[in-house]
Amino acid sequence: MSDAQTAQCKCSPTKQVATGDRAILPEGAKTIPIYVMGKKYEVPETLTIMKAMEYAGFRFLRGCGCRGGICGACPTVYRKEGDYKLHFGLACQTVMEPNMYLAQIPFYPANRATYDIETVEPAAETIFSLYPELFRCVACNNCTKACPMGVEVLDYVSALKQGDIAKAAQLSFDCIQCGLCASRCMGELPQYHVAQLARRLYGKYIQPKAEHLAKRVQEIESGKYEQLLDKLSRMGKDELEKLYKEREREPDLVPPGTWMPQDTQYL
Ligand code: SF4
Ligand code: SF4
Ligand code: FES
Repeated sequence: MSDAQTAQCKCSPTKQVATGDRAILPEGAKTIPIYVMGKKYEVPETLTIMKAMEYAGFRFLRGCGCRGGICGACPTVYRKEGDYKLHFGLACQTVMEPNMYLAQIPFYPANRATYDIETVEPAAETIFSLYPELFRCVACNNCTKACPMGVEVLDYVSALKQGDIAKAAQLSFDCIQCGLCASRCMGELPQYHVAQLARRLYGKYIQPKAEHLAKRVQEIESGKYEQLLDKLSRMGKDELEKLYKEREREPDLVPPGTWMPQDTQYL
């Protein structure tokens, strides 16, 4: 999701000073050798790739976002010692191993179509006309093998080719737009952008509307909660804490849908 360069190294390969709060090391942590873009560093074992790089002196300006495996900004390609195979992972989630060779790919220049979701038709033809390259897929399955989220990429690409928007939206639900699938595609497809279009069409036009949500938005817009919010914002810390502690709470292990609070005026 990030659109440019990854990290910048500010140190020599041998510097071993933790940066910021990123690397909290256990007592007596051993170090292991790793290779970042071909250069050797000694880093403590047990760190994720991201923390190991920061330990080594890299500073993430781009190529880092949530640190929680959600934003897709830190895709990384790596190889292990004595193994020809390329592996794929998220730098914020993958733990370093000795003699890993790695490079980050925080942006992949895949084609992304421009459209106005308010005016497009929720039909297969919309997808086909915006992304005709979809039919260049040769079903090699490299995309699925590269996905760090375990998404069955080829399956959702097949659903897209069949024009099954709902199926493609569901199969691609865990996609975090990291772009690794596109980096391995011999058909030069931007799989994740096509799937995102399918999810947008599905969410806007096909999925049943959440009526309770529309009702709540209407209530908010009508000012139903203004008085309560004013009252809360005038309360002091102690008063708020008391209110919070004494709030009515759903009992543990109550069967779903069987409990209602006494006070339902704001439901
Ligand atoms: S489907 Fe592609 S873009 Fe989405 S998470 Fe998997 S590899 Fe990344
Ligand atoms: S990598 Fe590309 S060509 Fe291969 S299966 Fe995936 S979408 Fe199709
Ligand atoms: S930093 Fe967000 S997925 Fe790694």
